[in-house]
Amino acid sequence: MTYDERHRRSLADPEGFWAEAAESILWRKRWARVLDSADAPFYRWFSGGELNTCENAVDRHVADGFGEQPALICDSPMTDSRRVFTYAELQKEVALLAGGLARKGVQKGDRVVIYMPMVPEAVFAMLACARLGAVHSVVFGGFSAKELAARIDDAQAKFVLSASCGLEPNRVVEYKPMLDGALKAATHQVAGCAILQREAHSCELVAGRDVEWGDLTAGAPADCVPVEATDPLYILYTSGTTGKPKGIVRDNGGHAVALKWTMPNIYDSKPGEVYWAASDIGWVVGHSYIVYAPLLNRNATILYEGKPVGTPDAGAFWRVVREHGVSTMFTAPTALRAIKKDDPDGKMVGELGGLRALFLAGERCDPDSVAWAERHLKVPVIDHWWQTETGWAIAANPLGVERFPVKLGSATKPMPGYDLRALDEDGNDMPAGELGNLAVKLPLPPGTFPTIWRDEARCRAGYYARYSGFYLTGDSGMVDADGYAHVMSRVDDVINVAAHRLSTGAMEEALCAHPDVAEAAVFGVQDDFKGQLPLGLAVLNSGCSRPEAEVVGELIAKVREDVGPVASFKLAAIVKRLPKTRSGKILRATMRKMANGEEVEIPATIDDPAILPEIKNALAGLGYPKGE
Ligand code: COA
Ligand code: AMP
Repeated sequence: MTYDERHRRSLADPEGFWAEAAESILWRKRWARVLDSADAPFYRWFSGGELNTCENAVDRHVADGFGEQPALICDSPMTDSRRVFTYAELQKEVALLAGGLARKGVQKGDRVVIYMPMVPEAVFAMLACARLGAVHSVVFGGFSAKELAARIDDAQAKFVLSASCGLEPNRVVEYKPMLDGALKAATHQVAGCAILQREAHSCELVAGRDVEWGDLTAGAPADCVPVEATDPLYILYTSGTTGKPKGIVRDNGGHAVALKWTMPNIYDSKPGEVYWAASDIGWVVGHSYIVYAPLLNRNATILYEGKPVGTPDAGAFWRVVREHGVSTMFTAPTALRAIKKDDPDGKMVGELGGLRALFLAGERCDPDSVAWAERHLKVPVIDHWWQTETGWAIAANPLGVERFPVKLGSATKPMPGYDLRALDEDGNDMPAGELGNLAVKLPLPPGTFPTIWRDEARCRAGYYARYSGFYLTGDSGMVDADGYAHVMSRVDDVINVAAHRLSTGAMEEALCAHPDVAEAAVFGVQDDFKGQLPLGLAVLNSGCSRPEAEVVGELIAKVREDVGPVASFKLAAIVKRLPKTRSGKILRATMRKMANGEEVEIPATIDDPAILPEIKNALAGLGYPKGE
């Protein structure tokens, strides 16, 4: 069947299309309804069905005779180590950890926060939760204690799985003080924590609350607990327009069906092959394509602890591809930019063996990086577009179905179940090739988020209220005459820094919490390396006469402290006033355009245009616009 036939069928007969795909999943009980629209726009997939995601990702393959096949390949240039777990070994580790969690009282439906670096135990942790029907919430290591606390509180976590430290090239990141700080700041109290001690640093445990990882896993293993297809598998917090993170919920049934479908059809990846998503388990790409999809498809998946450059050099990724026989790879454009910068002529690429394709996502792809990769890797380089909310690609080049010519700057075609439109302000379709708000006609396909954890109202307001019957992606873009999707930029206050999704709202909150700051604005400025960087302008309280440089230093430290190092917040200046509309709304978009050297039309509603020269000076002091 061609791409067009499949896509048309998925929209005309979603139930038939996805019921067929669902046959590839092991169900404990068959579903009663494929698509449940009773509570639209909160659609549910495979209601009445029962399964266990861990069983589908691990146990099933052992039962089918593939116990000796590699499942998880852990490669860490940070510790100079490699470890391979077969499916049988993975099953054993996961079952033992699940047993330990069960003895700590973790049951189906309980939430477990996982705050861990890229070590195999982090993957065991996710799968052990899935095994028990508990709901994991992985928190990226680059976030602050405050962000961790917010997630523990919102998820009402019963238990935390963590480690003594993470390893960044320039430092050992101690996790324990962060965890202790978060648990102190959180209003919700967890029942306990298990801590993995790493060789690089060991930490003190809190008596009565913390246990050593080895003690947790020392008892009897636990079996897979069947859950409803519509029960949550995980909550993954992502940035929204306000400082408060959104708990994106993922279900079990639709998720397993959709992700399994993507492996042969989008990635053209076969069971037994080595698949590598060079991301972090703290992001959605890590959830879907380091852990669940490759394991559901019986691939060997790679867990890589390190950076693309400097660990030891710009050939780090290609060494992994070669050494482990990677056939499909996935990374973010920012990683390619980092490699290209250190190795512009591709001298460190070398022989790549059986690599067949490189997929990119996480941010808009710059054509130079694609061209560099095509030239030196000599495989198709495929941009595809997706979001934490969708869990898999909205638009892609489905290599296993039909390979379309690449158009630079486009993520190719909408995937099955995604009826993608570019809409104008009134909800009308834009003509082909013209910019609009990218929206998807409901229902979204399986695997996409059913809701925001404990905040249905925010979900409705943020995604479904703007256009009735549509999911608002938050991205602007267009669909061209060939049906290709072009994604340009976010239309909200979310920015993408080194393919990390961050909220400028959270950074503004951090700035405003400084005792000398009256108000502040943060917006994204273009950066050749990280794609975007946050830039903050702050107004000090009247009467504050402290040296500006001193306050700026504190503001930078404050964002690092409150949001985390991952925010990469290093650009800040003090201004006397911020430009606003007459109704008091800060003109962030105007300042962003000024900083990026774009044409600025002064809004008719501005209360005092005389402020703009001062803003221009402040931006110039920070080196923006670039090249001026
Ligand atoms: N734990 C603790 N700190 C972390 C961290 C983690 N897991 N990840 C990043 N940080 C810190 C870094 O050490 C750095 O701190 P510094 O200011 O002291 O140097 C800061 O957060 C910013 O990190 P980052 O933006 O990652 O910059 P970098 O220079 O370390 O690396 C890239 C740049 C491009 C190599 C890296 O960001 C990357 O690989 N990005 C791809 C992201 C991705 O996979 N996204 C998912 C979509 S595919
Ligand atoms: P996240 O939820 O962290 O995966 O970030 C999702 C956001 O990243 C999207 O809303 C886009 O703004 C951006 N994004 C992801 N993939 C692409 C892509 N291929 N092209 C353009 N933007 C992308």
